[in-house]
Amino acid sequence: MRIPLVDLKKQYQSIKDEIDEAIQQVLNDTSFILGSEVEKLEDSIARFHNTTCGIGVASGTDALLLALTACGIGKDDEVITTPFTFIATTEAICRVGAKPVFCDIDETTYNMNPEKIEEKIAPSTRAILPVHLYGLSCDMEKILTLAREYNLKVIEDCAQAFGSEYKGERVGSFGDAGCLSFFPSKNLGAYGDGGMVITDNEEVANHLKMLRNHGSSNKYFCGMHGFNSRLDTIQAAILRVKLRYIDRWIKDRQENAAFYNQMLSNTDIEIPFVPDYARHSFNYYTIRIKKNRDKLQKHLKENGIANAVYYPLCLHLQDVYKDLGYKSGDFPIAEKVQNEVLSLPIYSELTPLDITEICRIIKQVTV
Ligand SMILES: Cc1ncc(COP(=O)(O)O)c(C=O)c1O
Repeated sequence: MRIPLVDLKKQYQSIKDEIDEAIQQVLNDTSFILGSEVEKLEDSIARFHNTTCGIGVASGTDALLLALTACGIGKDDEVITTPFTFIATTEAICRVGAKPVFCDIDETTYNMNPEKIEEKIAPSTRAILPVHLYGLSCDMEKILTLAREYNLKVIEDCAQAFGSEYKGERVGSFGDAGCLSFFPSKNLGAYGDGGMVITDNEEVANHLKMLRNHGSSNKYFCGMHGFNSRLDTIQAAILRVKLRYIDRWIKDRQENAAFYNQMLSNTDIEIPFVPDYARHSFNYYTIRIKKNRDKLQKHLKENGIANAVYYPLCLHLQDVYKDLGYKSGDFPIAEKVQNEVLSLPIYSELTPLDITEICRIIKQVTV
């Protein structure tokens, strides 16, 4: 039995006619850059999040980069974030000339611990960048209260959390800007790269529209330098089809998670913790094993079960951040968790039979 980490082929087969038609429509229209498909998707995604604006960009990484720029974050500013995330989060901070300042994570949610943010605030701090890791919302109330108190921007990294909720509202709608990724394996994935920034701030939205298009709002008249970072029109057409299914697909993921939880009870495996304030969208189903994580990972792979460690080395310990001066032991919770987490297949087409088999193989190592 072989079970992949995601099965994009199965998903495509289930909506093939609609996808093919949407792509064909763009080919017929030959309107390949921005245009009505992108605008309609921006409207639908803004509405989905109960925000007023959506600005399609080339990737989740660019969503972060452009959102930071549009929020006025730049040279020598400090941005507080988590060391337990994908490099794109801090890459964007560094690309605008700012400095990432790390804050340790919470032992149960793996998200930035809001109780540890305040001690990191310095005169140069301009923003907090929470990452809703694996599809679980950060504790936003505490983050927003601090941001108000210290006059900081909040830029949410929702790359792994499309459709996740905090106290009944979708993540991405809380801060000054929410950054989405449409990387193919995400809950709402394109057939290539794509991203979007959502915001209620019209000024930020207008700035973003210029930034993604060479700093121009009126063709060939430029008030600033920008980027070529438009959301591809064919990807927008694909995403518009997929958006119709997203609630069902997230529900499938939640049901799969519940079945895993049941199958893994009475083992020494820690299942994902979901606080009362959150509706987890399970972009990843991540278990925690205090001993033998690497042995289990190898055993699953040998038995055809794909899995992954997100992430095996915290960002403050990466070579690229040597100059920031962090050392091993600075963020003990994140450093412990990096050695204990393991993400399992959770995609919506996964069957109860698949999950039963995966758990049978897991129990051969853990019990
Ligand atoms: C937490 C996080 N932030 C940002 C990104 C970047 O998104 P993209 O790959 O669309 O550039 C990712 C993608 O994996 C991510 O997981």
